Amino acid sequence: MIKQAIIPLAGQGTRLLPLTSVFAKELLPINGRPGVEYILDECIEAGIKEIIFIISQKKLMIKKYFYSDTFYKNIINKKKDTKVIKEYKKILKYKKMIKFVYQNKPKGTGDAVLKTKKYIKDKYFLMLLPDDLIMKYNCSKSMISAHNKYKSSVMASMNVNKKTVSRWGIYDLSKKISKNNFLIKEVVEKPSIKNAPSNKAVIGRYILPKTIFKKLLHQKPGKGGEIHITDAIQSLINENEKFIAHNFAGKYLDCGTMNGFIKSNIEIGKL
Ligand code: G1P
Repeated sequence: MIKQAIIPLAGQGTRLLPLTSVFAKELLPINGRPGVEYILDECIEAGIKEIIFIISQKKLMIKKYFYSDTFYKNIINKKKDTKVIKEYKKILKYKKMIKFVYQNKPKGTGDAVLKTKKYIKDKYFLMLLPDDLIMKYNCSKSMISAHNKYKSSVMASMNVNKKTVSRWGIYDLSKKISKNNFLIKEVVEKPSIKNAPSNKAVIGRYILPKTIFKKLLHQKPGKGGEIHITDAIQSLINENEKFIAHNFAGKYLDCGTMNGFIKSNIEIGKL
């Protein structure tokens, strides 16, 4: 069973500047709720019991969001506002499940994952990238089912426009396992159009094996000088770890760019 999830939140958010020079993008409201709450609800509904947030000193705002007990208690003591009580209860529910670890230097997603090494208990864990919202159908839940069925690592996948391949991790498949699940042969972080093995992109949901930590310990910086999870995944594939690409059914929303963020607000408003 997959019981733990990790969420890298220490990214600088350069695609959402200037806002992110003072604000944590994951707290920006999408149709009235911080983006990260949609991710938390996806985890809870998928049966996750513990969530590890990887933040940085610059993004302490995220921790404060869940640790504002005095603030809420003061208001509730003065006036028993049911709406405030409801919000506080929701925050308390999330807070109980979250552990915080720190990645103070932005060295990449692979490095962020490595910070959780000593807290991961089971053979496999889930990772969700908060820029990627998947609505309507719970992507983590269907990935966990695929993991249970095929006893393998899993990544969420989607076909993208060939012109945009350099924005994503792109994979090539070796065989179709079922309608929505494919065995991955190779995965490359943000290739040029010329070098892309396909137009099949990895979206920010991963079921990773604990053995990835050993790879990450020795992982050299890759594209843009960052330590990429994609490169560590390729090292595991080279050693015959089975990675499945799972074509998810939900609606994908990219909240990591300004255009995508605006669109996400409109789209979620319509749901
Ligand atoms: C990350 C991954 C990339 C993946 C993408 C999905 O990139 O490195 O492989 O395709 O998430 O959103 P980032 O969005 O951090 O640039």
